[in-house]
Amino acid sequence: MITTYAPGRAELLGNHTDYNEGLVLSLAISYGTTISADANDAGEINLYAREFDRHWSGKLDNLAPQGRETWANYILGVVAQLRRRGVTVSGFDAEISSTIPIGAGLSSSASLEIATALTVQKLFPYEMSRLDLARVGQAAEHTYAGVKCGLLDQISVALSKQNHATYIDCRAFEISHLPLGADVEFVIAHSGVKHALTAGEYNERRESCEAAARLLGVKALRDVTASGLEAARAKLPGRVYKRAAHVVGENERVTRARDLLANNKMKEFGALMFESHESSIHNFENSCEELDFLVGEARKSPACLGARLSGGGFGGATINLVRRKDADPFCASLSAAYEQQYGKRPLILKTEACAAAE
Ligand code: GLA
Repeated sequence: MITTYAPGRAELLGNHTDYNEGLVLSLAISYGTTISADANDAGEINLYAREFDRHWSGKLDNLAPQGRETWANYILGVVAQLRRRGVTVSGFDAEISSTIPIGAGLSSSASLEIATALTVQKLFPYEMSRLDLARVGQAAEHTYAGVKCGLLDQISVALSKQNHATYIDCRAFEISHLPLGADVEFVIAHSGVKHALTAGEYNERRESCEAAARLLGVKALRDVTASGLEAARAKLPGRVYKRAAHVVGENERVTRARDLLANNKMKEFGALMFESHESSIHNFENSCEELDFLVGEARKSPACLGARLSGGGFGGATINLVRRKDADPFCASLSAAYEQQYGKRPLILKTEACAAAE
């Protein structure tokens, strides 16, 4: 029996920049997916998802996306993608358990994908870089889950470093790690709501960004500066302009944030997180009332240096940068305020910046 663990991730800054060949800062969180597995001789994949108490079984030679047991798609998709790349995979039995809340935008799916790729690697050894493992996870998501995601989630899960933020250049695929000061901590506040069919909204946002790049005559929005975008504004329909403004602004914020982090200027870093959320509200329109409430409440607290939605949006969670010594009262008051407004508590999770999957 082998065991594999992969964390989830939180996006610190750089929202919807990854598929625009842009820049992101992220971290791996203290919640993740564990897979325990054994090889079998039957050429079968037998899966059990402990949290859902669901089973899935099928022949390895007959893999296809599942309409019912959709959780299995992330595993089957990875196996299919590994085989496409020439990896020899035999039958295996696996039990999956996860501490990542589903639908929170904390990459439970990428965590499951990378945990699967590493499980297969331990059972049936093959050579592959961590970046290519991330690409396998992304391809699984495209083909088996129908989400045209970038590589932020899978790279964060596969390549993060403890006590560091991960900086990802999604064009050169250069990845580096920046130390985080010990006096700050991250708090995730999960609203518990999901307002949109995420795949549809997500893919639609991606199309708008690609349309903007086409109309501006560049390969990707990575190639556009804020002043360049203003100068060419007339070329873009209003909505497409706003989508592009978000991505261009996020890339510039990540660049500034990277320098601030290197100089431990966390208050200024946090201010960029608040700016990012504002841009999500007004430009990318991927926030929602509950997330805006959580960020608005966080902003009132001197303990909180910055807050924003994290991940795709349309619900899910916010990430808060908080002074460590004040984190507990901050969590309590954020939770109480949300309960007073919506009649239910949000899920509040404190997290460290964690190591990559192993
Ligand atoms: C989701 C996707 C990522 C990224 C974020 C938004 O998490 O899976 O690839 O695009 O949304 O930054």
